Amino acid sequence: MVSHAARIMIRNSAAYLNVKWVQSGFQNAKGALQEGETPRNLFGQKDGTINPRTRGEFNDQVWIDSGPDWLRGGSALVVRRIEMDLDGWDIIDRHSRVVVTGREIESGAPVGGKDEFETVDLSKTDEYGLPITDPQSHVARAMPPKEFPNQKILRRVYNYDLPPEPNGRFRSNTGLVFACYQKNPLEQFHPIQTRLSEGDRLNQWIFHIGSAVFVMPRGTKEDEYWAQDLLQD
Ligand code: HEM
Repeated sequence: MVSHAARIMIRNSAAYLNVKWVQSGFQNAKGALQEGETPRNLFGQKDGTINPRTRGEFNDQVWIDSGPDWLRGGSALVVRRIEMDLDGWDIIDRHSRVVVTGREIESGAPVGGKDEFETVDLSKTDEYGLPITDPQSHVARAMPPKEFPNQKILRRVYNYDLPPEPNGRFRSNTGLVFACYQKNPLEQFHPIQTRLSEGDRLNQWIFHIGSAVFVMPRGTKEDEYWAQDLLQD
């Protein structure tokens, strides 16, 4: 279905657009998804738990509502190709994976929790007064700080798993085509990525290869072609 949708878009825009490059990936490393189930990536983590779901959340985080008319109702897409060190991830134990991620691997729940959609509470401590969720974990670094609750994005990640390259960095050629949508990458993606690059434990097992930012024009109304008001202006 996805191949067909991509084909139709490429074919119908052939008169005014060229394909420059394509990044291919698949969504769920586990197999067919149940309705509402969060897909897993190739580290076995549930990836996509915290995401906008309601219309209000999409309006707040994803759809652009300022600027020129052609921009309104669209979104800004950041695509980032990130290699994942599967060999390295395989040799660390289950507990370390949980600490690094900031979530249980099997259920996707907050550390020590049961349900995937329980709230992560960074102030919770154990009997020794130590934080239950490591402040350097991926989730702790990626969460919006209290002062900036708007630092949220819609993540749609795709896995890739290609034949190993002769002089590749790792023995596998595996990773994520990380894609996220937002109103404004400078206020959303950028501060999150800065916090991750400064102190995310996951950085030991991932390697960023390339990054790009795109404007996604809004969907079409009747009798209109995609991005018509942009191309006609
Ligand atoms: C290979 C790279 C990455 C892996 C394996 C990964 C994995 C995960 C996992 C397992 C979660 C927890 C479950 C969830 O809420 O989906 C998560 C959450 C999150 N990640 Fe990543 N991630 C990666 C890269 C990134 C990047 C580049 C960004 C953005 C700069 C990012 C932003 C986030 C955000 C915003 C959350 C939700 C935090 C919250 O509010 O709880 N991640 N990621």
